[in-house]
Amino acid sequence: MHASFSMPTSILAGEHVIQQNAAYFAKLGSRALIVSTEAARLSGALKDLDEAFASQGIEYKLYEDCIPNPTTASTLELGAIARAYAPDFIVAVGGGSAMDAGKAASVMVANPTYGIPDLYSPPYANKPIPTITVPTTAGTGSEITFYSVLLLEDRNFKKSFGDIAMAPVMAMLDPLYTASMPIKVTIDTAVDALCHCIEGYLSKANNYMCGLFTREGFRLFADCYEALRTGELTLEHREKLMMAALYGGFSINLSRTLAVHSMGYALTVDKNLPHGRANGLVLAEYVRFIHESLPEKVDEIIGLCGCPNIDDFKDYIAALLQDKTTFTPEDIDRYVAASAKESIGRKNPVDMTEDDVRRILERSLLNN
Ligand SMILES: [Fe+2]
Repeated sequence: MHASFSMPTSILAGEHVIQQNAAYFAKLGSRALIVSTEAARLSGALKDLDEAFASQGIEYKLYEDCIPNPTTASTLELGAIARAYAPDFIVAVGGGSAMDAGKAASVMVANPTYGIPDLYSPPYANKPIPTITVPTTAGTGSEITFYSVLLLEDRNFKKSFGDIAMAPVMAMLDPLYTASMPIKVTIDTAVDALCHCIEGYLSKANNYMCGLFTREGFRLFADCYEALRTGELTLEHREKLMMAALYGGFSINLSRTLAVHSMGYALTVDKNLPHGRANGLVLAEYVRFIHESLPEKVDEIIGLCGCPNIDDFKDYIAALLQDKTTFTPEDIDRYVAASAKESIGRKNPVDMTEDDVRRILERSLLNN
């Protein structure tokens, strides 16, 4: 058995968590940079932060130009703005893209000469400035992970970087902030959380602690499955999905992700598919591939997710995604070329070949 656990991020979860903990921000300084997106405005988090900062005498700058799938160019732009403002701390508000961008900026502020290659070369000379994360989606896990993912324009591929020093100092989780998410985004992000849990549980890194968290993540997903399918989510469902996403984040920190994410990145870059949706499209066939060698382990997961057996799992996920994207054999060739090396190099529980990657992609994406 292998077990290890170190999560530097404090977690406060519950309704109105920002209002109830306004004094916490003042401990980090008097000048904040909020890194966010326009979509996150609907969540109500920015209004709550404005009031909390006012009550504590904290001045702040709002940057809400984060783009989906941050690029090296957008990260350098944010880094320059952040350095010019020189905040004491950063609050990243939004989904994975805003939180990933905020964490990258925290490194760049503390290390004024750093460019993109330096971000990919930890450990960092100076400790990143503190980052607080406020997720407005439930799926990414970025609220507690040590990593960010950037789209590398020169390779047209997404790649993660990070270091435990990049872990947020605090994650503030308020399920009310996820209530304004459209149902499609809710489903896509929930499926991303499910992928994090499945990949972490199956990983060859095989961390006992990861098993504890991900099994609970599967149960929470199963509890919310029907509500996701029908679109009738209560605040209790939102809370459960937020916790499932958190457990998925633990799983990433403990065991990282596997070939599902590598293949998903290729789909996102090529078809502009949301991250969780792209992963969800290849998840079932990846799981079926692993089932051929590890049937008992996979059957346990499938059962905990609320699906009767492996043969139904593809339909189980497809019923949520309702995806109409079409793919061609030429698309598959490009995705194999883009993702095979990364996919094979991850800690998949069964060794993969390029032919395996191709077979999973073909079965996932053609003749659906
Ligand atoms: Fe993910």
